[in-house]
Amino acid sequence: MSVTPTPPRPTRRLHPLPVRVMHWINAAAMLVMITSGWGIYDDDVIIRGLHFSQFWRLGEWAAWSLNWHFAGMWFLTLNGLAYLVYGFASGRLREKLLPIRMTELVHTVVDTLHLKIAHEDITVYNAVQKLLYIIVIFAGIAQVVTGLAIWKPVQFSGLVSLLGGFQAARALHFAGMAVIVGFLVVHVALALLVPKTLWAMVAGGPHIAPRSRSEEGHAI
Ligand code: HEM
Repeated sequence: MSVTPTPPRPTRRLHPLPVRVMHWINAAAMLVMITSGWGIYDDDVIIRGLHFSQFWRLGEWAAWSLNWHFAGMWFLTLNGLAYLVYGFASGRLREKLLPIRMTELVHTVVDTLHLKIAHEDITVYNAVQKLLYIIVIFAGIAQVVTGLAIWKPVQFSGLVSLLGGFQAARALHFAGMAVIVGFLVVHVALALLVPKTLWAMVAGGPHIAPRSRSEEGHAI
């Protein structure tokens, strides 16, 4: 009796090429937006006494920072849109970021407070990671919306009033930046603490089972 060997199941990478490319474009665009934003802010501060030294600012003076900000804005917005469309269409966002269970969230927070940040299986995000990624995605969208309001307050006057006026929109834009910078500090620290996650975001990471039949054979 002859046994026909079953062909190996095709797999895909943990982080497909489009996700990696979009992630690193986003990281570069965000850094440009944050540091040029600090340059613009410094010209007319929101919190008295809070300045950013030249070392942290992109652009010699506010007008230059503004140019950087406008250039980075296109990369951030178009790349962010592409990431969202890809994430929804491929099912990746739902697969990687949902569901978030309350019990797992509490456990992970307690473990982290005890400095237990094991990340043995890098193919699944823990509840805290999922929540942080969702928060930062919403913060990114909010930055584009509040940014539009303060960039073109006349054309988007309806949006400006919805946000509570020009100064309120500016403050919200600043608060969104603070959320993203807070995320980045934790995010980069964790990536450096667990370098295999960093390498996976560069090289693609381990091969994992296909999501559905239709995806088989499309491993990148
Ligand atoms: C420049 C420094 C950055 C580094 C070193 C970095 C590193 C990483 C790494 C290693 C992962 C995979 C995490 C894992 O597998 O456990 C990841 C995922 C992710 N990062 Fe970053 N990142 C950076 C910047 C950013 C920025 C600026 C944002 C957004 C504001 C961001 C948002 C995300 C999101 C949403 C994911 C999940 C992506 C997905 O699986 O679809 N990252 N990052």
